[in-house]
Amino acid sequence: MDKRELKYFGMRKNHYSLVRKFWECTDGIKLTIGDSENEFESFLKRNKGMSFICKDKSILIGTILCGHDGRRGFIYHLAVDKNYRNMSIAKTLINKSITQLKSQGIKRCMLMADSINENAKSFWIKMQWRKRDDLQMFSIDLK
Ligand SMILES: CC(C)(COP(=O)(O)OP(=O)(O)OC[C@H]1O[C@@H](n2cnc3c(N)ncnc32)[C@H](O)[C@@H]1OP(=O)(O)O)[C@@H](O)C(=O)NCCC(=O)NCCS
Repeated sequence: MDKRELKYFGMRKNHYSLVRKFWECTDGIKLTIGDSENEFESFLKRNKGMSFICKDKSILIGTILCGHDGRRGFIYHLAVDKNYRNMSIAKTLINKSITQLKSQGIKRCMLMADSINENAKSFWIKMQWRKRDDLQMFSIDLK
């Protein structure tokens, strides 16, 4: 695969069905109540220009969702098609999102990796992200 054929685009609301299908068939990506079309649109609207996709011609091969709350950046759904891994696509997607976070004055970025997702854990360690053994995640569903 010639890397020059790969193109990166800002993620837009009309990418929803494409990215949703991609996430549904990618191991390691867990879809939750935050992944409805409405929530996807509202996330992109609140966090303009921070999420990206990568395509090989018309085929979607990579995604990153990124946003912030004014204090911390968050990354979700970083995924690269199995046939295109180890080609620095994830690294490029992360760099694009981090550049946007920095431009908005955000100083720290977080992400959640499933504790059984060994591939993700070793990837983030390789990328020199700190594994936070000092923190526990808590959540509540708001009805
Ligand atoms: C994790 C994932 C996004 C990595 O994508 P990728 O495009 O293959 O990663 P890159 O090619 O940008 O890798 C960057 C570097 O990390 C290395 N790397 C890639 N996957 C790795 C892994 N699982 N463990 C350790 N190192 C890894 C690459 O060799 C490369 O090293 P280099 O800079 O020395 O050449 C991909 O494996 C994936 O989509 N996994 C399934 C979805 C998932 O679990 N996402 C994470 C949710 S938290």
